[in-house]
Amino acid sequence: MLTLGIESSCDETAAAVVDETGFVHSDVVRSQVALHAPYGGIVPELASRDHVRGITLVIREAMTSAAVDFDALQGVAVTARPGLSGALLVGVQVAKGIAWARELPIVAVDHLVGHLLAVFLRRRDPRTASTGANTGASEAITERLVYPFVALLASGGHTAIYRVNGPQVDAIHELGATRDDAAGEAFDKVAKVIGLGYPGGPLVDRLAAQGNADRFPIPPPMARRDSLEFSFSGVKSFVARHVAEHGKPTTDAALADLCAGFQRTVVDSLVSKTVRAARAEHVTSVVLAGGVAANRELRRRAAEACAAEGLALHVPPMASCTDNAAMIAYAGALRLDRGERDDLSFATATRTALPRVTRKGGGRRAASR
Ligand code: KG4
Ligand code: ZN
Repeated sequence: MLTLGIESSCDETAAAVVDETGFVHSDVVRSQVALHAPYGGIVPELASRDHVRGITLVIREAMTSAAVDFDALQGVAVTARPGLSGALLVGVQVAKGIAWARELPIVAVDHLVGHLLAVFLRRRDPRTASTGANTGASEAITERLVYPFVALLASGGHTAIYRVNGPQVDAIHELGATRDDAAGEAFDKVAKVIGLGYPGGPLVDRLAAQGNADRFPIPPPMARRDSLEFSFSGVKSFVARHVAEHGKPTTDAALADLCAGFQRTVVDSLVSKTVRAARAEHVTSVVLAGGVAANRELRRRAAEACAAEGLALHVPPMASCTDNAAMIAYAGALRLDRGERDDLSFATATRTALPRVTRKGGGRRAASR
């Protein structure tokens, strides 16, 4: 049973065809990075307009490369939240149009649920097949990963640790999130301050690999041992103050050292809290998700920490970490399998449907579990 997934919540226009086992028949992503790069960040109005230009192209390509007709679909899944309003509306309206014209069931998907389930995708291309940092190949991972697990979801818009008991929204519990910036946002802002391009994550990752982190030790944020919340704005400000006082690094070596110092502090925080959460929740598996999960130091350090604790680490391939529609199609396929359908009048929302316990700016809400 094939599901068409559509994603347009931020700066990627994407469509994919996936079956209910997670097998990816096609996965097309049209990135807007070049469009937003001159502005050093995403310009929402430009994002919406470019989604309008690209959405039918990516859908057609996804259908063609999966070699399926709309009649062969069991339904349509589309990201309805969280994201930029105008951007979300483009994908949602096109998805509704297809569902209406083809009389197909439609399900709205929460983008964060998509990220958390991306680890179950099975890709044909071995270059993009799942590689568990301390486990085997893609098939083995899919077989071995069972609920419940603890997942670190770190992207440009969100950073949180979840206990995932199942694929449904009410089976996913936030254990702690960032009080301010998302981890990817911190990477992007630091890259901007030190004069690298956009998006900064991959650039910092590459430079940091050649740097000496001890030359710019940056104090850890939220060091309180029991907290599973994150804070990255202090780390970002530390780098900004350093640049304000000493200027941008002028040599490649100094640039690399600054990137390495920043990255080590962020990765330390992400890894130590995720592993602590896994221990506290008595799970045996840890999953990395979201764009920042592409970070090589994060993958390496998480593998070491999990191996030391006897935890199995499951890391999706890069193509499943960054925004894509395959994860949306899969999350939607599971909803369709459970017999769920949404009415064509469903709305978009800028916030996730997952209950949150961490307040922006600090302090906990009453836990919802
Ligand atoms: O999940 P994603 O594609 O989009 C959102 O939903 O936000 O994540 C994008 C974020 C960006 O902030 C980008 O800089 C970051 O992921 N990122 C990385 C790396 N690759 C992408 N951060 C650190 N290291 C990387 N290698
Ligand atoms: Zn995302």
